[in-house]
Amino acid sequence: MTRTPLIVANWKMNHGLDETIKFVAEISRSTLPDKVEVVLCPPYTSLHTLSVALGEGATIKAGAQNCHFEIKGAYTGEVSVEFLKELSCEYVIIGHSERRQYFKEDNKFLNKKLHCAIEAKLIPIYCIGELESERESGDTFNVIARQMQEGLAGLAKDQIGEMVFAYEPVWAIGTGKTATPEIAQEVHAFIRKWIATNFGTLYAELPRILYGGSVTPDNAGALIAQRDIDGALVGGASLSASNFLKIISVCR
Ligand code: PGA
Repeated sequence: MTRTPLIVANWKMNHGLDETIKFVAEISRSTLPDKVEVVLCPPYTSLHTLSVALGEGATIKAGAQNCHFEIKGAYTGEVSVEFLKELSCEYVIIGHSERRQYFKEDNKFLNKKLHCAIEAKLIPIYCIGELESERESGDTFNVIARQMQEGLAGLAKDQIGEMVFAYEPVWAIGTGKTATPEIAQEVHAFIRKWIATNFGTLYAELPRILYGGSVTPDNAGALIAQRDIDGALVGGASLSASNFLKIISVCR
């Protein structure tokens, strides 16, 4: 099974309108490798500008960093998946560790968002990963299994097959401490096996599982060369178009 590599930029709370336009202008001057999908996830407020700058039918896709679990209603400050679709968004990050940590989003809450995004035909990028203390106490696989079990509750096999997962060890996010390719591969293989056990082998081979956590142009190649690592979710290094292009180019 060959899965098309996927490289996703998570700009977090960075890049307003001008920076978004400049980034797209810079990235558009380069020819991307044929066999790679690229998604940019700017702040909500830059999404419209991003989609316009990319243009219709663009090979680079737009994604959001979050969404609400209801289509509409009295949820002050929240954004519906339907509004994201109006902005030509095709992907949405769900359960990033910063949402889990600072906004107390837990697996059961994230499960509702996954259902909502999938029903709206957005592709969710579901983030999972252990804290440093959980790795040190030998709990990594238990934490991942719980994030999968509770987060995916009630979803059907074919829906799992269309999802994207992102393994992001929390201790590696924004810290410069990348997981070694071997450590990352071990967890990615565990995630795929977990899907096989719970949804069947066929469906385990379908979803892309990205690695995230201090990915740079220097370490991306060795990570993406692993059997079960199908791309990267890139934070800090995605803010510079030239660095991000270098990461994309490892997929050549
Ligand atoms: P980082 O962030 O690349 O800056 O570590 C990754 C992420 O949070 O998705």
